Order: sequence, then C-alpha cells, then structure tokens
Amino acid sequence: MHAKLQILKKERNALILAHNYQLNEVQDVADYVGDSYYLSKVAAERACDVIVFCGVRFMAETAAILSPEREVLLPEPTADCPLADMISASDVRALKSRHPGAPVVCYINSTAAVKAESDICCTSANAVRIVAALPEKKVIFVPDENLGQYVARQLPDKEIVLWPGHCPVHAGVSQDDVRIMREKYPAAEFMVHPECRPEVLDLADFVGSTADILRRAELSDAQTLVIGTEVGVLHSLKRDRAERAVFILQPGLVCPNMKKTRLQHVYDALQNERHRIQVAEPLRDPAKRAISRMLAMAG
Ligand code: 13P
Ligand code: SF4
Repeated sequence: MHAKLQILKKERNALILAHNYQLNEVQDVADYVGDSYYLSKVAAERACDVIVFCGVRFMAETAAILSPEREVLLPEPTADCPLADMISASDVRALKSRHPGAPVVCYINSTAAVKAESDICCTSANAVRIVAALPEKKVIFVPDENLGQYVARQLPDKEIVLWPGHCPVHAGVSQDDVRIMREKYPAAEFMVHPECRPEVLDLADFVGSTADILRRAELSDAQTLVIGTEVGVLHSLKRDRAERAVFILQPGLVCPNMKKTRLQHVYDALQNERHRIQVAEPLRDPAKRAISRMLAMAG
C-alpha cells in the first residue's frame, strides 16, 4: 500500500497531510504531520495539484479556502468535528449585534460560514498571541469555551465574550483523572491541551497545542510523560524517544472522527479523486481573510 501510494502521489502531484490525531498507519504515509496551525501553513505554502487532508472536515475546508485552485480531498467524508458545529453563522451575527465593535476571533475548529463572519482565526497554538495583538479590549471568542477561558486567564486586561462550545473528547477529562495519574506516576510531567477544562489545566505542568506538546516533550528530561490530548500524539512521542514511558491521561481521549480515516481511504481518495472539498465563492473570500490575517499575525 505504501509503494502504491507513492506512485499515485507522484502521478497526481499530490501531498498527503495528516493531523497528529490520525491513526499511526495514516501518519506513517503522510508527507507532513502536525497540528492545525502547521498544516494550514503547509496547505497555503507548498506547491502541488492535490492535497489529501487526513483530518476532519474543517481542516480540509481551511486548505480549500486558502488554495481554491488545488483539489483538496477529505478521504473520509463523515469525519466532522462536533465542536465546529456548536455555533452557526447566525449565532455569530447575534453576538456581534449584542457586542458592537468587539472583533470576533474564531478558533479554526469552525465552519467556513462561521469563519466568514469572523475578523480573524486562531488555533490552539497561537490563540493567546492573536487575542493579545488585537487593539480592542473587548473580544468575542468562539466556539471553544475552554480555550477562550484559557486565553482570558493569560490576558486579564482583555474582556473576552465566550460561547458555550466544547470538544467532547477533551472536555471529558476531570481533575480526578489527573489526581489518579499523579498518584500512579508522581515523577511524570503532565502536558495537556487547552481544550481541556480550566480546572484540569490548573493541575497540569504544561498547556499547549499538539505541536507544542510534542516540542515540549522533546526538551523535557522527565522519564515519564502523561499526555492530556488525543491518543494519536503518542505515536511520534513513542517513536522518537523509545526509552521513555508515555501514558494517556484518560482512556476516553480518542477522537472518533479523527480515527475514521484508514490507509485504504487515503488510497481510494487519491485513486478516485474523492471526496473533494470546495467552499462556495461568497463564503470563501471573507473566510480567507480571517485565516490569512491569522497567518500574517502569527508568522
Ligand atoms: P491542534 O490545534 O493542537 O492541532 O488541535 C486541534 C484539535 O482538533 C484539538 O482537538
Ligand atoms: Fe474536534 Fe475534539 Fe476531535 Fe479535535 S479532538 S477534532 S476538537 S472533536
């Protein structure tokens, strides 16, 4: 399958991008593996005709918004992010009319329609920096309440208007989960994603996006790591430092949507040019403005 994929990739001048939460077999065939921020940059910058986006719909949609001339394929069309569907464009319009003058920062885990209503996007890797750089004191942050609360705590001078969206995977972690693992592994370093609840972040040693966690792990001297994000990140953590013990904070940290894409789907996507993701013209331009502003601001 790997060899056949290499041939197809060359024939189609294609790139395979995989999020850190993808199955090991999918990460292993990807040209680029990373967090949402890194993959959106790759999608915007690397030359190719076809992008096979192994992730969830909003990620492929972001690539299609940035590069409409390329064919962007989502191998498993039902791979959605429930967090992205927790707010609609009309919800954002209602927030804007309730808080006139406040810019809208939307987490990249959102639909194209929501991005089109927003002033700027952010990812978990740059949310604090993006909000800090806005001149306005009052900022609307959608749709992830936990990430928004994390930003608000880092920036006490800002007034952040939140929306009650959450990631069902990360929001399922509790303080008790951390306490149980702390008792079991007292010398471990605990690293968690900011989509976890604030009281969970309070008990962690490090908070960051999936790429931040991987970078921090590389630098850490700890012999044991406990990871509070989706289990897919363990693949590279274990591969890169095999002597180290790495545990997942809670067994529920498995994103069912991220796990839908199998190697066969990646092959079928390239072979049969499916499932193409396109964003309609009226949404594309304003959505692209919000994403491009993020890319320009975050570097
Ligand atoms: P990253 O921003 O770390 O890629 O996370 C995306 C995501 O979906 C987290 O659940
Ligand atoms: Fe969406 Fe959560 Fe899955 Fe990330 S882990 S893709 S936020 S459901």
